[in-house]
Amino acid sequence: MNTYNEFLQEAVTAAQIAGRYQKYRFASVLNVELKGDKDLVTEVDKESERLIVGHLLSCFPDHDIVAEENVYAVKGSRFRWVIDPVDGTTNYAHGFPWFCASIGLEMDGELVAGVIYNPVYDELFTATKGEGAFLNGVRLSVSARSPLKNTLLGTGFPYDCATDPANNFASFMAFQKSARGIRRAGAAALDLAYVAAGRLDGFWELKLKPWDVAAGVLLVREAGGTVTTFDGSPYDIFNGRIVASNGLIHDEMVAKLAEAASGES
Ligand code: IPD
Ligand code: CA
Ligand code: CA
Repeated sequence: MNTYNEFLQEAVTAAQIAGRYQKYRFASVLNVELKGDKDLVTEVDKESERLIVGHLLSCFPDHDIVAEENVYAVKGSRFRWVIDPVDGTTNYAHGFPWFCASIGLEMDGELVAGVIYNPVYDELFTATKGEGAFLNGVRLSVSARSPLKNTLLGTGFPYDCATDPANNFASFMAFQKSARGIRRAGAAALDLAYVAAGRLDGFWELKLKPWDVAAGVLLVREAGGTVTTFDGSPYDIFNGRIVASNGLIHDEMVAKLAEAASGES
């Protein structure tokens, strides 16, 4: 019996409810607002969060919630859901079909369940602590590709990259020279799910928020991969700097980030 199955099943239901709604509204006329210079929020982000949080709290009314679009009162529960209702909002708002809902669960501060749902491909990535990672029910494992020069990596850039020198540009150049290729697809949660699935060999990014990574970090770990901070030390989801990989190229990625660091302090 999977200890966290009860929670996983409700997270799957919540992600599918939100994902179906996202697909239905995709490419329709949307109410879009700016949160910052570049950072958008749409009515679909807000409604997706309402649907996900509504479902989870109807099942687990005492649990805590951390989510992107609202601040929730802290209840002091052992359980905390960490939710990105739409990861890939820029894509969504521009009609670029690459986005997902991401839901992670912490128990006593430790990730124990994660769901990432891509409604366009109908791909459901799930993981529970100690029980493995799955894509539509089929067990996942990270790739066996190495060294770095043979690999495909994912990354992204912070919304304030025009004004803050911590912009990922130096690292991007360093990896573009040393890996086979880099994809900047615009949804960090899916990047992590793709590392878990062996479709990407590694991923790094800075200034990510807990909701961008909670579910994806568990997926990568449960698929046999490695997740650390940029300096190789243990990762927690409140640290914005993440390196996730198949493990085989992890040291090379950490070394490359250190090399590039002087340009990005
Ligand atoms: C963003 C995406 C993007 C990453 C940004 C995130 P959002 O999340 O994950 O890939 O580069 O840093 O903020 O705004 O689409 O939920
Ligand atoms: Ca996000
Ligand atoms: Ca989001």
